[in-house]
Amino acid sequence: MNKFMAKHLTTSSISVQKRWPLLILLCIALSTAIAFFIGASFNSCNSRDYSDNNNFNTPIHSFNSEGTAATKEENPLSFMKSKLVLMVSHELSLSGGPLLLMELAFLLRAVSTRVVWITNQKPIEPDEVVYSLEQKMMDKGVEVMPAKGQEAVDIALKADLVILNTAVAGKWLDAVLQDNVARVLPKVLWWIHEMRGHYFKLEYVKHLPFVAGAMIDSHTTAEYWKNRTRERLGIKMPDTYVVHLGNSKDLMEVAEDRVARRVLRDHIRESLGVRKDDLLFAIINSVSRGKGQDLFLKAFYEAVQLSQEKKLKVPPMHAVIVGSDMGAQTKFETELRKFVSDKKIQESVRFVNKTLNVAPYLASIDVLVQNSQARGECFGRITIEAMAFQLPVLGTAAGGTMEIVVNGTTGWLHPAGKEGVTPLAGNIIRLATDMETRRTMGMKGYNRVKEIFLEHHMSHRISLVLKEVLQKAKKGTH
Ligand SMILES: *[C@@H]1O[C@H](CO)[C@@H](O)[C@H](O)[C@H]1NC(C)=O
Ligand SMILES: *[C@@H]1O[C@H](CO)[C@@H](O)[C@H](O)[C@H]1NC(C)=O
Ligand SMILES: *[C@@H]1O[C@H](CO)[C@@H](O)[C@H](O)[C@H]1NC(C)=O
Repeated sequence: MNKFMAKHLTTSSISVQKRWPLLILLCIALSTAIAFFIGASFNSCNSRDYSDNNNFNTPIHSFNSEGTAATKEENPLSFMKSKLVLMVSHELSLSGGPLLLMELAFLLRAVSTRVVWITNQKPIEPDEVVYSLEQKMMDKGVEVMPAKGQEAVDIALKADLVILNTAVAGKWLDAVLQDNVARVLPKVLWWIHEMRGHYFKLEYVKHLPFVAGAMIDSHTTAEYWKNRTRERLGIKMPDTYVVHLGNSKDLMEVAEDRVARRVLRDHIRESLGVRKDDLLFAIINSVSRGKGQDLFLKAFYEAVQLSQEKKLKVPPMHAVIVGSDMGAQTKFETELRKFVSDKKIQESVRFVNKTLNVAPYLASIDVLVQNSQARGECFGRITIEAMAFQLPVLGTAAGGTMEIVVNGTTGWLHPAGKEGVTPLAGNIIRLATDMETRRTMGMKGYNRVKEIFLEHHMSHRISLVLKEVLQKAKKGTH
């Protein structure tokens, strides 16, 4: 199947390029635009609490809820005009962390902030991805600078604000700044997107207690960092700000364009060889055990069995795994494919290669499954992207997913781990048999995105953090 599928996909996307040049352009733009963002809740993990003292379900209403109207008004980041911000990224790749930092760089460039970018670890060989991302940044007026050397030190000393991205970027401080570390720390905002054990190394985070602030994508992750730094390393977190992410304007534009959605849906369904009314349940995440594709396939298989046993009236169901990387030949990927052939469900399972351009898949599926395991996603941006496309979400009750999906309203949550397989199968069946629930859950998810998960919401939250950090920096460095 795979060989056939690959060929089929390639040829059909070529013909589509001819038929739909604009749309394809749009999607290509989307995949590289990297201008998504913004989130919802903003409240301090420490004592300070800005406004939404209820909880993360309540947005701060300082913007009109009409997105387009609000964005034309004063940009919340406009006070950053002519400030100098140094961004230190641990690497430059198409993964979530660096892309998010780039989005912030572009939001700041849009208000004429001077932004200097440093990538701490670059491949030695020329790298296409690094090259194109750097080009993209330079096009937007971001100054790209070598990680080491006197120039980097000078900029760090001169900057109004230094943003370190992910825990690993902490290595840059001593290696490059050396004697100047203490002078720079009071103006460092440390942005953390990870929740994995191997980040809790003193080598990375020993300076964390002394920076102006840490910005973290979900409450669960912030709690986890607080616990782990204290218990593992005996260090204290600095003031910590939780800032949920949000959807880019580009993504919202496609999501809200009925015609674009329809065209993409038809095209992708055709390329996957599924019919118009078939039901597609998809995971969109790079294939790895942590993302739970294996358990999803088990649940899907259970759901298919169940619907056959009970002779339920459901449309043909398919599982779509977007994020495959057969080139990498991982054991896990092989295991997934073996499961599919052992259970003889090849006809109902599709594997799609990794892509940054998720909009066409979101337009073509019916339900998003967010099956991240263990502590779950830190935030899980694909979840709010799916909600923008009015999709119900079946997610693990773990991590940031619990802060996004309202159980029973915008989707259903199931436990992580093996014990989640049967509940997930049940939820698949519930949605498969009930079109009305799919529709209303999708609509409620969309409304939730419009209320709290848009770019301007996050710009606003980030602006509060940056203001505070700038103030501290002034005090600390004088
Ligand atoms: C953090 O620790 C407290 C008590 O030590 C515990 O109640 C809480 O569940 C922990 N939170 C996380 C996210 O591990
Ligand atoms: C998917 O990736 C594999 C391995 O990297 C490649 O051989 C195949 O052509 C790709 N398929 C498509 C449709 O691009
Ligand atoms: C989600 O809601 C369902 C009922 O709709 C309930 O059975 C389940 O326990 C809830 N899960 C969580 C994690 O709250």
